[in-house]
Formats: sequence, C-alpha cells, structure tokens
Amino acid sequence: MTGTTILGLGRRFRRLVGFLLFLGVLTGPGSAPAVEDAAEQRRRLIDHIRAVNASAGPVAGRGTIAESVLEAMGRVPRHLLVPESEWPHAYEDRPLPIGYGQTISQPSLVALMTDLLDLDGGEAVLEVGTGSGYQAAILAELGVRTFTIEVVPQLAASAGESFRALGYDRITARRGDGYYGWPEHAPFDAVIVTAAASHVPPPLLAQLKPGGRMIIPVGNPFFWQGLVLVEKNTDGTVTARHVTTVRFVPLTGGH
Ligand SMILES: C[S@@+](CC[C@H](N)C(=O)[O-])C[C@H]1O[C@@H](n2cnc3c(N)ncnc32)[C@H](O)[C@@H]1O
Repeated sequence: MTGTTILGLGRRFRRLVGFLLFLGVLTGPGSAPAVEDAAEQRRRLIDHIRAVNASAGPVAGRGTIAESVLEAMGRVPRHLLVPESEWPHAYEDRPLPIGYGQTISQPSLVALMTDLLDLDGGEAVLEVGTGSGYQAAILAELGVRTFTIEVVPQLAASAGESFRALGYDRITARRGDGYYGWPEHAPFDAVIVTAAASHVPPPLLAQLKPGGRMIIPVGNPFFWQGLVLVEKNTDGTVTARHVTTVRFVPLTGGH
C-alpha cells in the first residue's frame, strides 16, 4: 500500500477513503492521483490505445476501436478498482494484480474485446469473470444492462462494493461459476468471458440470443489462447473467428 495516512485501516474503509480522495472530498499525501491527474492519465491511455490498435501493435487483428468504447473507458476510474499499491500503474497499458492470483486485463485488450461486441447501448450483456469490475464498469458506461459473475468470493464482494461506491447501479453482479451463465437473465445480446477456457461453454452459447456475439479466450488455460469471436446467426448456426493471441488466467470452477 502506498498511502501512508490510510495504512492499517480496514479494506472497506480504505476504499471509502480512496473514493473520497478521488472525489476531492479529502486530500491525501499523493497516494491517489488527483481527479484532474487521473483524467489526464486516462486521456493519455486512450490516445495510446487508439494508436496501438490502429497500428495493430501488441494487440493485433483489429483496426479502429469505436469512439464510444474509448469514451466509455475514459470515464472509468481504473485506479479505484485496483489495489492501492497499483495506483501509480493504473493508467499504464498493462495487466495488474488484483489479489487472489487474479489480474485486471491490459486496457488495450479490454478495448479490443469490448469493441468486438459491437454494442449500441440498451443491450443485455453477460460478463464471466468480474475481477476488479473494470470491464463491467466500461460496459455500464456504454449504456448496456450488465450482468457479471465472479467465482472468487472476495473479488465478487469487493467489486460489488466498488459498483455501489461508484454508482454503477445498472450492473447486476453475483458470485458463482460463470461457466453455467445466468439462465434467469438470459438470453443475452452479448457474452464476454475474461478467463481462459479450454472450449466454448455450451451453457453460454445456449444463453446467447440469435444474432448475438460472444468474445472468449479459448485454448490451453495455462499457456496462450486464441481470442475467439463467436457469432450465433439468426438461423441458429454458429460461426467462430480467431482474432488474436492472448494470455488469460484460467476459467476455474466446478465444471
Ligand atoms: C482476467 S480476470 C478478469 C478481469 C476483469 N474482467 C476485470 O475487469 O478486472 C479473470 C477473472 O475471472 C474469474 N474467474 C475464473 N473462473 C471463473 C468462473 N468459472 N466463473 C466466474 N469467474 C471466474 C477470476 O477469478 C478472475 O477474477
């Protein structure tokens, strides 16, 4: 933890203090970026993502990311969704540890995956692997009804707290094994899986609407995977296309 004044306080209280620092209600010794600094860092990150994807750099396979996606990313305070020790790196284009052996994904990859869902706003989207809540917050900023499932209880609880603190009341979150989807809220216009699967989970495919899209890393969960865009056509047939090579933490659970 970098913030000396909030050393030793409970996790829930530290998050509240972090949120108040973000709002400018409290001032700290520089542990949290000031609001305008964070906004400026996000602007630089968005410019970087625009350039990376346009030049098919580290995240290849795609050209321009929709401005709506970049604008949504520009509104999400990523630093408030990672541990305080990672705040100095919150707006770098790289994955960061979020505890329990899990990570928040690299922003340029988050941009790519979100863009591939081709959302207009108003859709119902299922995310498997809530993690920090960053991806879900971006989906909410895009105006979609977001349903997100996390298997690690502590991460599910802390993401839920973050959604409340940041006012993301269009996000419905729960703890559980996302392999089985969320039948009570199905069908979904889009599904995004942010952990590596050895195959496309049949329950997720079944819960995708005809005309819907799923983005999912498929391959060896302990090595590299192919990022796959699955489309369920209106006649019920399914097509899949390899987008790029990625490395995600494994999809775990009881399946
Ligand atoms: C790369 S992290 C996701 C990052 C997250 N989308 C974010 O924005 O921070 C993958 C997450 O998937 C979760 N996960 C793994 N298997 C899962 C499963 N079967 N059901 C739900 N979540 C799962 C992990 O615990 C981890 O938090």
